[in-house]
Amino acid sequence: MIIAIDGPAGAGKSTLARRIAGKLGVAHLDTGSLYRVVALNALELGDPADPAIAERAARALDLSLLEDGRLRDEEITSASSVVAAVPGVRSALLDFQRDFAHRAGGAVLDGRDIGTVVCPDADAKLFLTATPEARAQRRTRELQATGGGSIYLRVLADMKARDARDSVRQAAPLVPADDAIVIDTSSLDADAVFAAALAAIADKLADIKR
Ligand code: CDP
Repeated sequence: MIIAIDGPAGAGKSTLARRIAGKLGVAHLDTGSLYRVVALNALELGDPADPAIAERAARALDLSLLEDGRLRDEEITSASSVVAAVPGVRSALLDFQRDFAHRAGGAVLDGRDIGTVVCPDADAKLFLTATPEARAQRRTRELQATGGGSIYLRVLADMKARDARDSVRQAAPLVPADDAIVIDTSSLDADAVFAAALAAIADKLADIKR
């Protein structure tokens, strides 16, 4: 079973994906962290805005960096959406994501293009949205909880800039798949999002069995 969860930054994808994977007993891949690893590697090689450098960084993907403490730094966060717009970066990461999704036992993947490009064949597709303000508030709280001195207005500005880049790019833009179930999480807490998502998945799977 493959569950795809897409949506913009701070909509609650990763928290939800982890909980659904735990509940279903399947593996979870936060695909955003792959783009963050590419950004980190590209910054070490030179200018991440240079498509040739970004692509080189993606082809040399070092998965041991998935645990690197720098991945959530502001510089990496911002560079991740710059490298993610490069078609060669996206194609370099595609096989790894698809292999992960199709492992025996099933998987939950969260990102921006899981339902549209990585796993168009997913059994259930969720697309989480929320107002930019709700998402920035959530992200500010998360960053402060982990010791970052983040300022709401800066987080909001970064989020809007990333959303714009992610939505207008030619390669795998951030859009809900035609068959995605959209959940607006603006006024829902994590438990309510989890309950809504489980209900939507159960409905979808019942549809498939019918
Ligand atoms: O956690 P947050 O939602 O803030 O970001 P993330 O999921 O870690 O993703 C970081 C960046 O990677 C995004 O802004 C996208 O530009 C890019 N990304 C993507 O293009 N495609 C994906 N499937 C996942 C992330």
